[in-house]
Amino acid sequence: MPEKESFIVTPYEVRGRIDYERLRKQFGTQELSGPVLEELREAAGGTLHPLIERGVYYSHRDLGVLLAQYRKGERFFLYSGRGPSGPLHLSHLVSFELCRWLQEKFDAPMYIQITDDEKFWARSQLTREDSIRWGYENLLDILAVGFDRKRTHVFFDSRSIAAMYPLAVRVARKIPYSTVKAVFGFAPSTNIGLVFYTALQTVPALYPSWESGRSVPCLIPCGIDQDPHFRVTRDIAESLGYPKPALIHSQMIPGLLGEGVMSTTGGNAADNALFLNDPPKTVERKIRKAFTGGRASVEEQRRLGATPEICSVWALWRTRFAENDGKFEQVTRDCRSGALLCGDCKGELIERVQAFYTTHQAARERARDHAEELIITQPPKPEGWDRKPSTSREGSPSPSLYR
Ligand code: TRP
Repeated sequence: MPEKESFIVTPYEVRGRIDYERLRKQFGTQELSGPVLEELREAAGGTLHPLIERGVYYSHRDLGVLLAQYRKGERFFLYSGRGPSGPLHLSHLVSFELCRWLQEKFDAPMYIQITDDEKFWARSQLTREDSIRWGYENLLDILAVGFDRKRTHVFFDSRSIAAMYPLAVRVARKIPYSTVKAVFGFAPSTNIGLVFYTALQTVPALYPSWESGRSVPCLIPCGIDQDPHFRVTRDIAESLGYPKPALIHSQMIPGLLGEGVMSTTGGNAADNALFLNDPPKTVERKIRKAFTGGRASVEEQRRLGATPEICSVWALWRTRFAENDGKFEQVTRDCRSGALLCGDCKGELIERVQAFYTTHQAARERARDHAEELIITQPPKPEGWDRKPSTSREGSPSPSLYR
């Protein structure tokens, strides 16, 4: 494979210039287009979220199946998550904003997983204290997106483990080491925490079915880099008597420096990503020096126009800063024609990002009041150990508990 074309996307590594269509084929997922999009639009009451309209969400697994069940009256729940290792950046909001829209349109319960164990296992420099601290900080940013708190639940791995573990042990027994080795490319030196971890990421997808004792369909909006985890989930779900979760996958937001994607870690992370806690001046500085699809001179740009598709600033308009289709089309058209110069485009975007940060940070402070009470800490049902000691001679609890 020529060097220029090579890229790598796994849950633990994203590298190179991603060809999303090729990636979708590699992963074997379905294209989010045509009839399934129209079914989604209709079920959602006639509209689609801009992230879907603009193709940021571009791939899925079994969304059609989920919608067919929905039309028959079967309600689904939503699940997404975050592995804390630092502050959130704009790219992280992509899944949660779609979740919020879906929650509203489909009146769906939302499960958020904060995996304060995952990145601790994946990144040797990260301390336990920082994983936990970022976990709480990230949770506030996620809740600031505006979920219905009566229908929103949080698995904070190290705090929710008593609730998750009964299901995790069942899940883990179904996953052979050879599978995780092949799916995640683990090396002999990989610590065994990561080997087990995928079982924990599977748990929320099956939890409502396990808890209620009936089949509850699940939809997972996530970056396409997370698909490998859920291939494992989908492989084993039915063998435990639960439905396979459906998925809807997004592209990742490109880095501001024109290299790779926005990321929390890596040598150039600080200037490549817009973190949600960046002060206004930092936002301005990062956008001012961001990579664009512009020309070498003003004269050339006026004459030939610029290239939105390769521009990191256009990607931000596309993801969340164009408030409607009209604005998005205008920015795209004026960029391409040369009517809009990069300096002016950046200036307008900077103001919008700063205004969004002000609103977001206020919402995040309000979330402090209720974040704690959304965290699941109690096991869903007795497993045996949490029952009163048996007084019967047999001394064993009812076998139905071990179903
Ligand atoms: N592994 C994800 C990360 O690295 C976190 C995560 C947990 C997640 N559960 C999820 C992401 C469900 C998407 C959907 O950030």
